[in-house]
Amino acid sequence: MTKKILVTATNYSQLCAEAKKLLEENGCEIIENTFGRPMTFDELKARIGDIDGVIAGVDAWNDEVFAIAPQLKVISRFGVGVDNIDVEAARRRGIKVTNAAGGNANAVAELTIGLIVGAMRAVPQLHATTRQGAWDRFVGREVVGRTVGLLGFGNIAQKVARKLSGFDVTVIAYDKYPNLEAAAKLGVAMVGADEVIARSDILCMLLPSLPETRRFMNADAFGRMKDGAYFVNTARGALVDEDALAGALTSGKLAGAAIDVYEREPSSVDNPLFRLDRVVTTPHTAAETFETYTGIGAITATAVLDVLAGRTPKNLL
Ligand SMILES: NC(=O)c1ccc[n+]([C@@H]2O[C@H](COP(=O)([O-])OP(=O)(O)OC[C@H]3O[C@@H](n4cnc5c(N)ncnc54)[C@H](O)[C@@H]3O)[C@@H](O)[C@H]2O)c1
Repeated sequence: MTKKILVTATNYSQLCAEAKKLLEENGCEIIENTFGRPMTFDELKARIGDIDGVIAGVDAWNDEVFAIAPQLKVISRFGVGVDNIDVEAARRRGIKVTNAAGGNANAVAELTIGLIVGAMRAVPQLHATTRQGAWDRFVGREVVGRTVGLLGFGNIAQKVARKLSGFDVTVIAYDKYPNLEAAAKLGVAMVGADEVIARSDILCMLLPSLPETRRFMNADAFGRMKDGAYFVNTARGALVDEDALAGALTSGKLAGAAIDVYEREPSSVDNPLFRLDRVVTTPHTAAETFETYTGIGAITATAVLDVLAGRTPKNLL
């Protein structure tokens, strides 16, 4: 019998053609998200009454939603962060939740490196002024010799550390469950969060968004950073008090920041961070590469098929 799979991750047909084909060849009918953004409760409600699985973007999947999707057996998160999914409520209803752990780590790590250099050399500002005909040769800062601090030392942070090895920097990291073997291999010193915050010239936020990590970087934490340091967030907006970050930039405490993720997304044009010259911003695009779509397309389609066939999927949460 045909299984109905809702895909709320966007651009599925265009960017995950092979994964879509794999599902269809295995008897699945695909219902796509045509909104180009996360779906609202009402939009989900109109489509989930008879679905067997979902390949989920960042829409909210909670008990209220599960209650109107009685056949739902699997939520395969098209990404890593599952802060939009009530995993415990899903477990209570026997719905399996998987993610694509590591599937977008390289893309996020590469953009993190790009954003560090972009912020320190003011690349977006130079791009804008060069095109306007102003030959405005801002003097920037180099990465070499700096201490780079990683808050979180999971898949992405480890790739960032590896890529930084050519930059001749000192890398320190904090993780609640430190992977000492990976740290030793990558020459990273694992230290406490306070030490990472206080010693870093470049501080990269790479923690998961959890109730206990909410606003991990607040006014107090920014106050404990080095004067003239840079802050980069390619993890989740909820980890950072945006007003406090804007304050630290406006006061001159921080030299610059690069931000891919926001407390509310899409972020409104009134966001104070958008008015600051020394901030480089991107719209939650760190994982948006063709390579990521192909890889995560395969991981998520396989997980859906595994659960529907009664097999234990990889990355079961
Ligand atoms: N910008 C994007 O497009 C994008 C894409 C993918 C992932 N992300 C985000 O990047 C962040 C890192 O992702 P990842 O794939 O490296 O995740 P990961 O799960 O591999 O690593 C997270 C690390 O945090 C540690 N950790 C867990 N709870 C902690 C706590 N309470 N305090 C301190 N450390 C804790 C874990 O031990 C783990 O090493 C996540 O927030 C994820 O949602 C963003």
